[in-house]
Amino acid sequence: IAGFLGDGDAELGDFPHYMLKEIYEQPEALENAMRGRLDVGDATAHFGGLNLSAQQLRQIDRVIFTACGTSYHAGMVGEYLFEELARVPAEVEYASEFRYRNPPIDRNTLIFAITQSGETADTLAALRESKRMGHTTLAICNVVGSSIAREADGGVYLHAGPEVGVASTKAFTTQCAVLAMLALYLGRSRHLSAAQGEKIIADLQALPDVLRETLRCHDRVKAIAAKYADARNVLYLGRQYLYPGALEGALKLKEISYIHAEGYPAAEMKHGPIALVDEQTPSVFLVPRGAVFDKVMSNMQEIKARGGPVIAVASHGDREVAAVADDVIPVPDVPEYLQPIVTAIPLQLLAYEIALLCGCDVDKPRNLAKSVTVE
Ligand code: G6P
Repeated sequence: IAGFLGDGDAELGDFPHYMLKEIYEQPEALENAMRGRLDVGDATAHFGGLNLSAQQLRQIDRVIFTACGTSYHAGMVGEYLFEELARVPAEVEYASEFRYRNPPIDRNTLIFAITQSGETADTLAALRESKRMGHTTLAICNVVGSSIAREADGGVYLHAGPEVGVASTKAFTTQCAVLAMLALYLGRSRHLSAAQGEKIIADLQALPDVLRETLRCHDRVKAIAAKYADARNVLYLGRQYLYPGALEGALKLKEISYIHAEGYPAAEMKHGPIALVDEQTPSVFLVPRGAVFDKVMSNMQEIKARGGPVIAVASHGDREVAAVADDVIPVPDVPEYLQPIVTAIPLQLLAYEIALLCGCDVDKPRNLAKSVTVE
């Protein structure tokens, strides 16, 4: 794996909690994750430690991501990214399931272990099992020199700096950015044109400033948190790239506020979760502008028709959303494949503010560990 420049400063500084500090570090973490990796000349990305020959790269015909927790959600985003940008079939598997399954895997399948800590027991076991079967394994990892970083055949470091809060924040957004760069790299060795590659690079380069702008939603999110902090159940709904975004939003709330939350693909809520909807059960909709906007809007109307309060994460100035939702958190517009990164910020802040109002220990939630090193 490529060299690492240093872990930076893990002191709290002016922030009351590590989680908040790490949420605010995301623009810089993304800059560090992308530094030196975007090649404008060839309209592609480069990674120092993949250890794949050009021939191996061309032969890859399937990718499997394996991970746990938040890293699994990044893997789900990776599935969409690799299929859209690289046109490579991709799947994601919980490492705890993958390690005990015996799926038929073809020779040209590449296996990625995604992990912040590099020490998660199930992810490490899934990696070892894949290696034992003779597959090429790569790590997408934050902690330098960790077990998974050492044992994988190669990989990419996140360079996000130390993540101390138990609930993962900047690791998720940098994982998504690294996956987008990997999809670009693979795509450019296949069908993506130079012009398409250049556009993706420009989108990625703009992202740190986009996140700086997104963080300005904090006051709005704080006010919304005060309205909903006594909810006992919250639904998180989104489609396509924002389906994993909804899962991650729900996980953040569960982890640190102990409020029951479920993430669902927005249209699938008709098949069960809609039965939970009442005046006390808010739904958080991820509905920035994009190809499925109208579809998500109609899902939102269905919730409203049943009396459920709606908090919408929507494009800046979107009046159509504002006319339906009870509360709106505006985010800047980005291409759909980057929306999980941008919408993660208000969802992290919402979980943080609600957890504070509930009197929870946001950095060290009960029963959870930063790194689960036992099976
Ligand atoms: C634990 C942490 C989560 C994390 C997951 C996977 O459950 O509390 O925040 O997402 O492990 O950890 P990893 O280090 O493998 O990404």
